[in-house]
Amino acid sequence: MKIDILTIFPEMFDGFLNTSIIKRAIQNKLVDIQIHDIRKYSKDPHKKVDDYGYGGGRGMVLMPQPIFDAVDDLKKENTKVILMTPQGVTYKQKIAYDLAKEKHLILICGHYEGFDERIRTLADMEISIGDYVLTGGELASMVITDSITRLIDGVIEKESHLNDSFNSNLLDYPVYTKPIDFKGMKVPEVLLSGHHANIAKYRQNEALKKTKQRRPDLLENGDNNG
Ligand code: ADE
Repeated sequence: MKIDILTIFPEMFDGFLNTSIIKRAIQNKLVDIQIHDIRKYSKDPHKKVDDYGYGGGRGMVLMPQPIFDAVDDLKKENTKVILMTPQGVTYKQKIAYDLAKEKHLILICGHYEGFDERIRTLADMEISIGDYVLTGGELASMVITDSITRLIDGVIEKESHLNDSFNSNLLDYPVYTKPIDFKGMKVPEVLLSGHHANIAKYRQNEALKKTKQRRPDLLENGDNNG
């Protein structure tokens, strides 16, 4: 899996690419994540990437030329081009599973007040990570890259993501570690029993209870299943 990310703030990705599971996945060549500075593609003598919007009213708008040229340079036969925007489809675990099957993604991060409408014609898909507005698409592209990378074979143990919240439309069951008694709060007896069938039953019940309390919509919609 290769993920190319187009941004005007490449430095935002330094910590993300050099930490924990994402870092290890890159080192083990399970995913190839490349950050591309959109400015590099600008044909403007001052490497400008944005300008005032026609008609006035809004701030700076990302220009189409650098982004069209970047996509043209990076796109291959099996590439899916995705635009980060609050106007896109709301991101869900189901989309993460679908995207994890792709060979090559290009994620375009919008910025400032917006991007020229013609950039939309490049995209196979537009994604929003939630109903709020960020200063740019960078954090959204990291959310998507992170959630996809952990689903790639070999990145984490398969069992870890098969038990994730949202698989089977249930939130995660509670987990505990040492000590058995912390400030009077005890680990449930059943987890210490070594009785695997009872433990599985307990976890299923707890997951259902939690989902009913916190996210009853998941039980009704059933649309998060990966
Ligand atoms: N850019 C700004 N806000 C965003 C959001 N909520 N999702 C994706 N991209 C964005």
